[in-house]
Amino acid sequence: MSKVCLCRGVTEEKIIKVVKAGATTFQDVKEETGAGTGGCNGDRCRYKIESLIKDNK
Ligand code: FES
Repeated sequence: MSKVCLCRGVTEEKIIKVVKAGATTFQDVKEETGAGTGGCNGDRCRYKIESLIKDNK
């Protein structure tokens, strides 16, 4: 399973799960999974998270 946020070890699968459960923004995913809260502060992972939201909502 590919990791979206490397520093927090959050997988694509985990993000898709919270999006399907109702997360609609980068902020929501951040709060629910911890993705985007690590060292890159979203610089590396934000784009990827936003495209997963777009493709799975
Ligand atoms: S890769 Fe972890 S916060 Fe961006």
